[in-house]
Amino acid sequence: MKKKTILVTGGAGFIGTNFIRHALAVRKNWHIVNIDALTYAGNPANFDDLAPDHAERYRFIRGDIGNASLLERIFSEENLEGIFHFAAESHVDRSILGPERFLETNVIGTFRLLEESLKFWENTGKPEGFRFLHISTDEVYGSLGTEGYFTEITPYDPSSPYSASKAASDHFVKAYFRTYGLPTIITNCSNNYGPYQFPEKLIPLMILNILEEKPLPVYGDGTNIRDWLYVIDHCDALIEVFEEGKPGDNYNIGGGAERQNIEIVHLLCDLMDARLGRSGGGSSQRLIRFVTDRPGHDWRYAIDATKIRKELGWSPNHGFEEALETTIDWYMNNMDWVNTVRSGEYKKWIEINYEGREI
Ligand code: NAD
Ligand code: DAU
Repeated sequence: MKKKTILVTGGAGFIGTNFIRHALAVRKNWHIVNIDALTYAGNPANFDDLAPDHAERYRFIRGDIGNASLLERIFSEENLEGIFHFAAESHVDRSILGPERFLETNVIGTFRLLEESLKFWENTGKPEGFRFLHISTDEVYGSLGTEGYFTEITPYDPSSPYSASKAASDHFVKAYFRTYGLPTIITNCSNNYGPYQFPEKLIPLMILNILEEKPLPVYGDGTNIRDWLYVIDHCDALIEVFEEGKPGDNYNIGGGAERQNIEIVHLLCDLMDARLGRSGGGSSQRLIRFVTDRPGHDWRYAIDATKIRKELGWSPNHGFEEALETTIDWYMNNMDWVNTVRSGEYKKWIEINYEGREI
């Protein structure tokens, strides 16, 4: 099979790590170049245990997607056949406390990557199969009420600096298709969970707090709804879109697993109590604390995934409860990884975000 070299940005983060590990396993002719700035969310050690035949098809470059000369160098060194653009500041709460970095990476960084990709694509004779796949979020659509779903034509209505920056980047990506013909595709996915997720997001934070018998901070009344997707199902969808999707289009990706936050926390308490032998008055549910809500907190996200199912034949392979159990077991069996990523910076963040939330 012909060698195919793919550039992944932000591949040392949660979804990027899962994507690279999965893609190396299911696409034996893919060689992956990962550029990642290694912010607090990136961990290059996620690839230390790659099997030898995977490791020889993997190259890591530490660098910022906003660095045009570095991008130019990479494009001149590698005969790239496509890009999976994951790199971003991704945490809504951090965007509320410090939005500027979100503008720099998510908007300007994406712009630089588009510019260098366009130059490369034009200078190499506009190769037919080249794709720029921009990994975006369902948060660009804003919040739903009790009814309805996000479709690919739902108007953008972002609420947080994070989702506003992702919305802006989506518009640039689409503009580069319409104006210059660069074969871009956008995916808008719902909430992911699974191994290697940085433990400041809801599911890993709760797993670790339950394990360590710390308070479980639920924002507001806990009725907010997210549509959960196991990360490997997202990775499969991305490969499908990259290989079969139509340039210029966007595809919604979702798990069809809507849950209230409080339901998830209860379920995690029950599943972990069973593993930890906690019950009765000792149940972890006693650790739940309802704390000050997130400002501008979107109430409900829910994806209509009809387009990707009908046009590309993708649907999730993992059920929510089963994959949540896999995720819990991964964290419980990988406390060395957890302790490595919970560095000084992590502790500082936990103090700032939850200060005044009266835990
Ligand atoms: P993450 O925060 O875990 O990882 C982001 C990665 O990007 C990190 O490795 C970080 O070091 C790197 N990075 C940040 N700024 C960079 C820069 N300037 N240059 C190079 N690398 C940089 O994020 P994630 O949860 O893996 O999300 C990946 C992508 O998927 C993001 O674009 C996000 O918007 C999107 N997304 C995430 C979810 C989710 O539920 N996590 C859902 C839908 C879409
Ligand atoms: O919908 C896709 C998005 O999902 C991605 O674009 C983002 O990158 C990703 O971080 C995620 O955003 P959310 O804001 O939905 O995820 P988070 O895990 O931060 O929060 C999930 C829900 O849980 C949300 O309603 C807020 C709530 N929450 C979160 C934390 C960290 C709590 O109640 N308590 C908490 O301590």
